[in-house]
This record gives sequence, C-alpha cells and structure tokens, in this order.
Amino acid sequence: MKNKLCDMFGIDIPVFAFSHCRDVVAAVSKAGGLGVLGMARMGPERLREELQWIDDHIDGKPYGIDVLMPSTYSDAGDLKYDIDRLLPPEHVAFVRKLIDDAGIPPLPAGEKDEIVRALLGELSFTPRESMQMIDIAMAHPIKLIVNALGSPPPELVDKAHARGIRVAAMAGKPKHAIKHKAHGCDFIIAVGTEAGGHTGPVSSMVLWPRIVDAVAPLPVLAAGGVSRGRQLAAAFALGCEGVWCGSIWLKTAESEVIPEIKEKMFAADSEDAVMTRAVTGKPCRTLRSAFTDAYEQPDAPTPLPAPLQNILWWAEGRTRAERVRHPNFLTYPVGQIVGDMTGPTTVREVIYEMMTEFVETQARLSDILE
Ligand SMILES: Cc1cc2nc3c(=O)[nH]c(=O)nc-3n(C[C@H](O)[C@H](O)[C@H](O)COP(=O)(O)O)c2cc1C
Repeated sequence: MKNKLCDMFGIDIPVFAFSHCRDVVAAVSKAGGLGVLGMARMGPERLREELQWIDDHIDGKPYGIDVLMPSTYSDAGDLKYDIDRLLPPEHVAFVRKLIDDAGIPPLPAGEKDEIVRALLGELSFTPRESMQMIDIAMAHPIKLIVNALGSPPPELVDKAHARGIRVAAMAGKPKHAIKHKAHGCDFIIAVGTEAGGHTGPVSSMVLWPRIVDAVAPLPVLAAGGVSRGRQLAAAFALGCEGVWCGSIWLKTAESEVIPEIKEKMFAADSEDAVMTRAVTGKPCRTLRSAFTDAYEQPDAPTPLPAPLQNILWWAEGRTRAERVRHPNFLTYPVGQIVGDMTGPTTVREVIYEMMTEFVETQARLSDILE
C-alpha cells in the first residue's frame, strides 16, 4: 500500500497496533505494520528490558511507544505505595467486601505489601513519571511517540522531532484533534466509542470523518472497532490514512492476556464490552465482570479520580482475583469487536485476514459503479 503514513514510516501497510505486549509489537512491525508499545504498566527497569528485547527481535523494522500523559491527573507520587493513607476507607471497604463475599482469599499475610508495592511500582501514571520513561525510550531507535490522554507538551514534540521521532495523540472529539495539531503532532488518532480502553462517547462512523475534516491535511488514523478488512476499507472511505487497533491483538498467541480471560473474551458479545469508570477512574471500555457490575448498583461509591481508582482496583481487587483466577472477577480492557473474537489466532493471521478481506471489499466496491 502507498499513502502518507506508509511513506512517513517506510511501512508496507498503514496498520498500527497498540499493545502492552512486546511480542505483539514486534510481530506487527515484522508483518508490515507498525507496533506501538504501551508503557503505562511498567517501571523504568522493565521498560529498558522490553525495548532491548524489541530491538533484538524486530529485524530493524520501525516501532513506537505510547505514554499516558494526562493534564488532569492528580499526582499520586510516592504516596501510591501507602494505599491506606491514599485511598478513602469507605472505597477500600466497598471493594474489600465485594471480594471477601465472593470467597476470594486475602493475600497471604506479609506478602500483601510486597505484592502491592511490586505491582504499583510498575505503573507510570503521572506526567513526571512519563517524562522519565520517554527519556529512557529515546535511547532506543523508536520512530513514534503517542500520547494517550491529551496534547503532548510542545517541549516533548520539539525534542522528539529533533531526533527524527514522529509524535501523535489520541482524540475523541474534533476540538481535541485541533489542539493536538496546534501542539505540532504529525498525525491524529481518532478514537470512536467502540474502542477498548479509555474512549469517548462518539461512534467511529461519526467521529472519523469529523476529525479528518477538522485537521486536514494532517493524516488521521481510525481507531475504535477495527479488526477486519471491511473496517479498514471503511476507514479509508471516511478519509483516514490507516487504522490503529488495540483489542484484536488480545486474542493472539503473542498477547499478554491469561488463558482464563481469553476464554471469557471468546464467549463475550459486543455488549459485554462495557463503559465504566470502575477500573481506572476515567471512562474505559472493559470486559464486563462482577466488579464492573457492582459499580452499576445504586449503593456503589462514585469511582475515585484517576489514578486512585486504578490503584484501588489493582491493590484490593485485581491482585486477589487474578491470584486465584476467579472467573467472575477477571476483566480486561476490550472494545466492542470482542463479539467477533471467537478463538485464538496469531498476529500474522489477523493481518493476513484483514488484508485479504480488504482486497475483496475493494473489488466489490469497484463493481458498484457502472
Ligand atoms: C487492553 C487495552 C489496553 C489499552 N491501554 C491503552 C494505553 O495504555 N494507552 C493508550 O493510548 N491506549 C490504550 N488502549 C486503547 C488503544 O490505544 C486503542 O485506542 C483502542 O484499542 C482502539 O480500539 P479497538 O480496541 O476497538 O481496537 C488500550 C486498549 C486495550 C484494548
């Protein structure tokens, strides 16, 4: 394929993959697309290891990184280790009771602090932490930095451009896309509500062309609900220059998702990908679970602002539930395309099938006009 984004990165197909998993990142880039590693769940040491692994396995193909650099996060700083001081007791009690009532055992005495500290030490939430991580990443041959939750600071854009690194940002509204453009982004990722993870309320069908028009001639990637060739064709038809996919890789052999959660995804339908603030404090599309259901009840507390709600869920719920793989509480961010995920596959197969269906669609569309 040939278009602005293929030229920008020297890639064969404008299929960009968001993933927290280095194996997915390398596999997508080697298959002709561009893998982007989400850094939100790792500390500096792990990031160095992951990027070194990618450098050693990606055959010189381009790849990028994704940071969560929000402008409105409260900075939890070092306090995040002392969850009893940081989190309001009634919120802790609500989650603790939920997990206790399900018969899930508490973390072994003495181990809890260690486990929580190890897990939370891997989370990079704040602008300060993100900048430190970006400096580490810049010591590797990254070709792209994506900012997930707002416009990247102009200093970051200048620093990246000086090293030949492109910068992009996610947008759920045209006004956000216009701001990203003003901050010097090289392209915009328009994220429709169908998407897994943090997303807005507007559907891809409506959002993509609005953002394309708002920032023209800047290229736009279509995100939210893309997993197959017909959706890739729709993205081009709506004026985008390629696609940005996150959920579809979760079902692959390369992904980080544990088998029990994969099974839940294979059994799920699109409406099981619910929008909730329960997991991170911000609207996030996630696989429905007993935890997300509990926050829908009238007696549930209002979720804490990010990143506190994430720390609460991780420290009091997720760690305990995943330790015993309790099926009702297992959850993971995933988009509405979960309804199309019915069995395991590989990254190469996903891309091969996407391109095959795209070519068939192209042929079918060209027959429409006489
Ligand atoms: C498991 C998972 C985790 C995600 N975490 C992040 C993240 O840390 N940063 C980010 O920019 N986007 C994140 N996203 C959102 C993706 O970047 C992307 O917008 C979304 O997956 C696209 O829609 P799709 O899920 O329908 O493919 C995540 C998505 C998923 C499925």
